[in-house]
Amino acid sequence: MPQPFGAYQSEIYLNGLNGVVPDFTTDGTALEAMAREVLRPEPYGYAAGGAGSGATMRANREAFDHWRIVPRMLTDATDRQLATTVLGTELPAPVLLAPIGVQSILHEEGELATARAAAALGVPMVLSTASSYSLEDVAKASGAGPRWFQLYWPNDPEVAASLLQRAKRAGYSALVVTLDTWTLAWRPSDLDQAFLPFIRGTGIANALTDPAFRALLERTPEEDPQAAILRWVGMFTGTDKRWDQLPFLREHWDGPILLKGIQHVDDARRAVEAGMDGVVVSNHGGRQVDGAVASLDVLPSIVRAIGERATVLFDSGIRSGADVVKALSLGANAVLLGRPFAYGLAAGGESGVRHVLRSLLADLDLTMALSGNARLAGLNPDVLTRSL
Ligand SMILES: Cc1cc2nc3c(=O)[nH]c(=O)nc-3n(C[C@H](O)[C@H](O)[C@H](O)COP(=O)(O)O)c2cc1C
Repeated sequence: MPQPFGAYQSEIYLNGLNGVVPDFTTDGTALEAMAREVLRPEPYGYAAGGAGSGATMRANREAFDHWRIVPRMLTDATDRQLATTVLGTELPAPVLLAPIGVQSILHEEGELATARAAAALGVPMVLSTASSYSLEDVAKASGAGPRWFQLYWPNDPEVAASLLQRAKRAGYSALVVTLDTWTLAWRPSDLDQAFLPFIRGTGIANALTDPAFRALLERTPEEDPQAAILRWVGMFTGTDKRWDQLPFLREHWDGPILLKGIQHVDDARRAVEAGMDGVVVSNHGGRQVDGAVASLDVLPSIVRAIGERATVLFDSGIRSGADVVKALSLGANAVLLGRPFAYGLAAGGESGVRHVLRSLLADLDLTMALSGNARLAGLNPDVLTRSL
């Protein structure tokens, strides 16, 4: 029988008998400060910053504090069952790694390190279109690990179709289409440092390796990098998509499709009516609309509207096991972990990501145990109380 995730706790204490303490903090809320110490100000600002005044990022966290878990006793939560299946992908626990682009600004091995850490634990990684390594190279690093692909939908249909075909061939099993980033928000932490990785040629590996994209260029990216960079960035900037364009995705992707960035119940309904398999309730970690509603606050109504018919994933603000329990109790099928693993990557590459993931899963396991919840199926809104 595999060890429960909570066993990481005993491992840490036993190592302590030999004078060994963990290389990185076990406190999910302290990871950002840890990353700040190791990163240059530009990449730190890129990862930690948000849109405008940062109000949406703050709201994301505050929303979790408004819900409190009500522990139950004598329920026999000795053996927990955290494994689940989401859209055909088996998960050891209801957690995936969120798509985070340009990971090489955080650590030179970037997505390759993340892929190895995720695969070793069997946790699915959602690879961003804006990755620093090509989707094929990341697939190789992920090996037999589960992997999904996140599409930033380029406004050239041949390039979009080519990316989807490549992702399919490389074994990415589900598609996450991010809708909330069709143009970049006003992000003071990046603007003040005049720092945008893409126009410096980072996070465009999938462009440089894409035959359909290369065919559009007069001169190869090796001959004229700047022209290639500007052409690629222009494909994702300033052009919003429409609902009536969604059939394009179905034509070019035969696996499950989820729309990411959904915050309104009517948009969630529309996604299902358009034949999508699910949504990711997300406000991009507060990086897009300043002064927006907390992602957790819109989760219950979206679950009520579409939860019976479609998969509902959640992100924006997950920092601890308790946060995962809260999002699942409010109806999410699974959550995406974002900034915390990026901070782990910054501090320690593959072993940093691995530590952050193991810590979150151990914390989740122990929080389930101590709140009297042995099974995911037992999580529902009655597990929580609202505190104003
Ligand atoms: C540095 C950074 C880069 C990101 N890049 C992408 C991306 O390429 N594609 C995408 O869909 N979301 C991207 N996101 C958003 C995440 O997928 C996720 O929605 C967000 O991190 C959740 O918020 P949290 O990390 O505060 O919990 C990025 C987030 C961060 C912090």
